[in-house]
Amino acid sequence: MNIEWYPGHMTDAMRNMQKNLKLIDLVIEIRDARIPDSSANPQLEQLASGKKRLIILNKEDLADPSLTEKWVHFLTDQKMTVIPADARNRRDLKLVQGAISQLVSEKRERDRKRGILAVRPVKAMVVGIPNVGKSTWINTFVGKASAKTGNKPGVTRGNQWIRLSSQVNLLDTPGVLWPKFSSQSVGRKLAVIGAVGEHAYDTSEITSHLLVFLLKYRPETLEARYGMMVENFSENPSGEKMMEQIAVSRKLFLKGQIPDVSRAGRQILEDFRSGKLGRITLDSPREEVEF
Ligand code: G4P
Repeated sequence: MNIEWYPGHMTDAMRNMQKNLKLIDLVIEIRDARIPDSSANPQLEQLASGKKRLIILNKEDLADPSLTEKWVHFLTDQKMTVIPADARNRRDLKLVQGAISQLVSEKRERDRKRGILAVRPVKAMVVGIPNVGKSTWINTFVGKASAKTGNKPGVTRGNQWIRLSSQVNLLDTPGVLWPKFSSQSVGRKLAVIGAVGEHAYDTSEITSHLLVFLLKYRPETLEARYGMMVENFSENPSGEKMMEQIAVSRKLFLKGQIPDVSRAGRQILEDFRSGKLGRITLDSPREEVEF
């Protein structure tokens, strides 16, 4: 099953973001730390070009710490400012605020060198794919003390200006994907983390790919969570068969003692999403990962 999900409202959202772009000094791009590459929207790449840019690798609490470190090095080498973070953690808020202040003062310095002396608040746009944690970040940023600055000309409904400090105003934007994923593997990873609408994929098929990935790269998680004898699958790494075995061990049966593979699939996916399988990253910076 090919995964494609680009509902009409995303086309409108992207158009609005492009319209607002001329107002923007800084793009804060939120990616999912479990898929730092697959959650990078190529259309946002164009959008951010020529702007100051901060990348937050969000949900780092669910990602493999050693791979997160590699990703930070990899992206920093490409001259990006990168912060791995958990949106619900105050300490990470401080790190992100520090990075924003740094980028703001770099912009001020550049303006000063160009003879632009009027100091107006820097305008930052927060962008990212659906379910990546944008609303959580906006809530964390806003806290209790700040106020929304209200609608401004050129800002469409659903986009909201928020006063972060006397120095920075933030523009919230809706989560967007892009019309065609570069590979089915990217589509599947986006489905696994819940960025794609549920009706656009088959849960059992996605879980089957996830299990084959875990068997190859993280077999210990399958042993620990499901008591699976992974060596039984080394000859024939079938996701379907693994799901069947998990259904049996969890006593998930349809009528007539038939293993309820579909229910097992949903549970396994939920286990991954909630971190019950451990901290797992599906993208690697320098090597192709089979998924
Ligand atoms: P969005 O606006 O980009 O669509 O994402 P949103 O903030 O709604 O976050 C999606 C889900 O991810 C929420 O969980 C949220 O709590 C969770 N989340 C956001 N940031 C982080 C993070 O850094 N780490 C972890 N572990 N989770 C994060 P939910 O189950 O949909 O809602 P709720 O039960 O938390 O209310």
